[in-house]
Amino acid sequence: MKKILVIGSLNMDTVIETPRIPVPGETIMGESVKNVPGGKGANQVYTIGKLGGDVSMIGAVGDDNFGDRMIENLKKVNVNVEGIERIEGGTTGQAFIPVDDSGENSIIVIGGTNGQVDEALLKKYEYLMDESDIVVMQQEIPLTTVMAAKEMAVKKGKLIIVDPAPAAAMPDEFWKDIDYIKPNETELGILIGKELHTQEEYKAAAAEMLKKGVKHLLVTLGSKGCLLMTPDSEEFLPANKVQAVDTTAAGDCFTGAFAVALSQGKTEKEAIAFAQKASAIAVTRKGAQTSVPSLEEVLENF
Ligand code: RIB
Repeated sequence: MKKILVIGSLNMDTVIETPRIPVPGETIMGESVKNVPGGKGANQVYTIGKLGGDVSMIGAVGDDNFGDRMIENLKKVNVNVEGIERIEGGTTGQAFIPVDDSGENSIIVIGGTNGQVDEALLKKYEYLMDESDIVVMQQEIPLTTVMAAKEMAVKKGKLIIVDPAPAAAMPDEFWKDIDYIKPNETELGILIGKELHTQEEYKAAAAEMLKKGVKHLLVTLGSKGCLLMTPDSEEFLPANKVQAVDTTAAGDCFTGAFAVALSQGKTEKEAIAFAQKASAIAVTRKGAQTSVPSLEEVLENF
């Protein structure tokens, strides 16, 4: 089994169940509130650990109670947490997530110590990259660090997976030599600076990213499935039909499951099918890390 390194964010999510998301200027009554471990990087590393991967993380939390809880949760699924820095006096990242009765959400992140995942921290834990075969990143830490980590991973010959969320446009050279990017349709639009609505538009946008040097794109389209684009092929892969109750972290679950399947020697198509199954289960459950299925559940349910 290959080793995986995730470089990214950790947030404690405050999840608010609400009949609907209020419009600007409106006050409404919610139904419940709870804290659930989240953060795009942490959700991906948690998924990889829970599904049996050999995985480490580089990130940062504060020396607060949320930081303790984030690290404890990752340890439960055997994530190597030695690259997660405890920042003295720092405040762990947080996300505020109203989820409505149809399972839709909106998310506001207060980055906290995620902002301190800088190049010095990357250097400090560079040995974790040396020990790994696959490097997984998102865009919820400083983009300068994401760029430096990508350059480092290219030089070391690692397989690189980027989940471009929260999506931010990057200099063209950033995309060169990335093995996989996994945007959803909205994020893909942000990467190329256009709103996308149709399959033809998704394909044209994906082709633009290939021209920038990305090797493969997995564009997740929610209940419509997933578009796999490479320089030589394109294919729509249908989604598993489920009743969604909360889509929070479904994309993170997809990325983590895809990475772990590749690390275990599955083919690209097998890894996508595995990721689609894992994320289909995740949307039937509430919360971020609380929604990630076990390996047995993924294998049993489809
Ligand atoms: O992708 C879902 C995640 O986005 C949440 O867990 C939240 O922390 C934000 O980072």
